[in-house]
Amino acid sequence: ADDKLSRVRDAVGAHEGFPKPGIVFRDIFPVLRNPSVFNDLNDLIYEAAKAVPGVECIVGLDSRGFLFGPILALKLNVPFVPVRKKGKLPGAVERVSYTLEYGSDEFEVQKDSVSKGQKVLIIDDLLATGGTMKAACQLMEKLEADVVLCLVIIELTDLGGRKKLTAPFKTLLEYEGE
Ligand code: PRP
Ligand code: MG
Repeated sequence: ADDKLSRVRDAVGAHEGFPKPGIVFRDIFPVLRNPSVFNDLNDLIYEAAKAVPGVECIVGLDSRGFLFGPILALKLNVPFVPVRKKGKLPGAVERVSYTLEYGSDEFEVQKDSVSKGQKVLIIDDLLATGGTMKAACQLMEKLEADVVLCLVIIELTDLGGRKKLTAPFKTLLEYEGE
């Protein structure tokens, strides 16, 4: 598993100064260009999810959480549910606002997509300030779902985002510093 993890780490891109000076952008997409490494990553995600008993639903976050969530859901043979940025989902939705570095955005989930007491695993590519993951947890709280794990591939540890979360959190890779 460590071999797989180091192959994934080696494939993650780093772009200094994107989207603005002082930021190192960690890019997950180069992992997807290499089917063997992408497969390694999906194995690691599956292992992390299997370590939590009784996961009943995978919730993926718009948009990069959609790259991994459905694959995991199929492997676990459980439903996949999207959390989307506002105005994209039809029907009755729950909504929460969350803050970004500049300004704010809103996340929505379809009310009938997760049931009360359901054990959900939320997946996203990356945790930075934690605002995005926290908003997803708040949506799950509104639906009275039980968040058993918040799983990301990359955590930018300097930003302390995991402190915003009350549900269990796991990352596959940690990056610190610029
Ligand atoms: C990125 C990333 C995470 C989020 C993390 O998404 O994919 O979802 O930021 O940041 P935070 O922990 O500070 O909230 P982004 O909003 O850029 O959109 P995308 O997934 O559609 O690319
Ligand atoms: Mg995102």
